[in-house]
Amino acid sequence: MSYLVNWRNRHSNKAGVLTTALHHIEEGSEIGIRGPLGNGYPIDLFEGKNLLVIGGGFAFTTLRSLVAYYLHPENRAKVKRITVIYGAMMPVLLLYKDELLEWERRNDLKLVMMVDWGDKDWKGKVGLVPNVLEEIAPSSEDTYAVLCGPPIMIKFTFPKLMALRFPNERIFTSLERRMKCGIGKCGRCNIGHLYVCKDGPVFSYAQLERLPKDY
Ligand code: FES
Repeated sequence: MSYLVNWRNRHSNKAGVLTTALHHIEEGSEIGIRGPLGNGYPIDLFEGKNLLVIGGGFAFTTLRSLVAYYLHPENRAKVKRITVIYGAMMPVLLLYKDELLEWERRNDLKLVMMVDWGDKDWKGKVGLVPNVLEEIAPSSEDTYAVLCGPPIMIKFTFPKLMALRFPNERIFTSLERRMKCGIGKCGRCNIGHLYVCKDGPVFSYAQLERLPKDY
């Protein structure tokens, strides 16, 4: 994984309007934070189970928090096996490279990384998340799957999880990309009768199946 070592000091995780603005504020500046709003991943359900975490692109930020929570010494015993599948378009776009390095060294977590386009230094897999999921075929027994990523990844990953016999109730995804105001005022995030910002952003596939397929 020398590739990640090479990249980590050359590239920050600055992407998008918000993080760019954060990079420009000075030490000591005052910032305001609203929240917490909406729900989170159902960690009560995950207790004592295996966890399969599937992320694509910058959506990995929410999943990184979940994995970091379970890797904390006080929480590690709360779930059994942890498998993380993480894909990005290209190696430079992988987030949290320092943490990925640490996770790779752990023997209580399986990390599988992939990119759409590798380069001469890339040692991980090359391919799309749904295809790699199918290839490594993690067991669905006693396992919850949590995924977050671009809509196209979500769309093609659901059927792969079905094929691996994950029940709809054991698949969770986060849809915060639909949110705008984030406080239930703009009406831009609804899926059917639900507001992603207030009723979500985390939904089970069992819930989503009962809603219009416009997520
Ligand atoms: S994001 Fe504005 S109402 Fe939900």
